[in-house]
Amino acid sequence: MALFARPRNAVALDIGSSHVKLLELESDRAGRRRLKHFGVAPVPPEAIVDGAFMNTSAVVATIRELLARHRVKTRDCIVGVAGNSVIIKRISLPVMTQEELEESITWEAEQYIPFDVNDVNIDAHILKGQADEAGQMEVLLVAARKELINEYQSLVLEAGLRPVVIDVAAFALENQYALNYDVPREPTALVNVGASTVNLNVLRNGVSAFTRDIAMGGRAYTEEIQRVMNVSYEEAEAFKVGGGEKDRQAVVPEEVERVLSTVSDTIASEIHRSLDFFLSTSGGAPLTKVALSGGAASTPGLRSAMQRLCGCTVEIVDPFRKIQVDERAFNPRFLQDAAPQAAVVVGLGLRRPDDK
Ligand SMILES: Nc1ncnc2c1ncn2[C@@H]1O[C@H](COP(=O)(O)OP(=O)(O)OP(=O)(O)O)[C@@H](O)[C@H]1O
Ligand SMILES: [Mg+2]
Repeated sequence: MALFARPRNAVALDIGSSHVKLLELESDRAGRRRLKHFGVAPVPPEAIVDGAFMNTSAVVATIRELLARHRVKTRDCIVGVAGNSVIIKRISLPVMTQEELEESITWEAEQYIPFDVNDVNIDAHILKGQADEAGQMEVLLVAARKELINEYQSLVLEAGLRPVVIDVAAFALENQYALNYDVPREPTALVNVGASTVNLNVLRNGVSAFTRDIAMGGRAYTEEIQRVMNVSYEEAEAFKVGGGEKDRQAVVPEEVERVLSTVSDTIASEIHRSLDFFLSTSGGAPLTKVALSGGAASTPGLRSAMQRLCGCTVEIVDPFRKIQVDERAFNPRFLQDAAPQAAVVVGLGLRRPDDK
């Protein structure tokens, strides 16, 4: 969503409930993207809950620490938002110009959003300008609660950055995918599983046809391991990503494995339900591919559970696939491990002055 003037060079921030991801890209003369900065830092588990900032100073400190560690000089910043405070809809309106649309959208939007139009920032973009038989055109409507936008703005300002673009995670995901892969005409689902939110974006005929955020994610595994094994959040997290206390390894893995498989089934069925609902109500071809990303995409069992339910290929996305990386500056192992988690921030980092 273009709420501010567009930057020439900007640092992208994806502020997740478990990790802040920071990235800056450069373009060479041939227009190829090169990785300039990339960093990931954990956020304390209680700092962001249900999409709300509970401990702003901890988040600000995390961002500041990332900027310092990576010696980021750029101050203009592109930040991503997601969750229930953002509404994205494709709507039909009588044919008009972008200028006319911008003038009338607040009034038009009223019937499509569950909030008071005075409480939201609205952005509208013409998708298909040609009129259909009824003289209608297709418009993408994005509405984000002002309260949420203000919170992000002041957070980023406090971290010493200038917020210039606020973008929606689901669209960032799409921009990332379009850079790295050939977008097929057949339905493809982009599924980003973070710690507390799943961002969905179904592409059909090469464009976004359906987006949705589901309040669910990798944290569910950690909490269930915590409960079953009676351990701390940190210990549970360590068990999940394959660590854990050595002397307990003989007994532990089975219980952990059980949790991983049960929670994977739950998350996968919730995602499948959303995708299936969209596909069955909108008609057309079935899904041909799921492109999975987000930190939780690496959880053993999630990919196969998705594959079983969706009945199509499920691939883990590599957001650095078409980005030039200097191996002396970036540890390849670190990049490989963090790649699924970087899908949204890469999409944010691709935002340029004249795209929308
Ligand atoms: N190797 C791994 N195996 C399993 N889970 C992992 C792995 N690496 C990261 N995760 C999980 O991925 C999640 C973090 O991913 P990500 O950074 O995409 O989330 P986030 O953006 O912080 O969360 P959200 O956007 O939902 O608020 C955490 O739940 C973390 O435990
Ligand atoms: Mg996230």
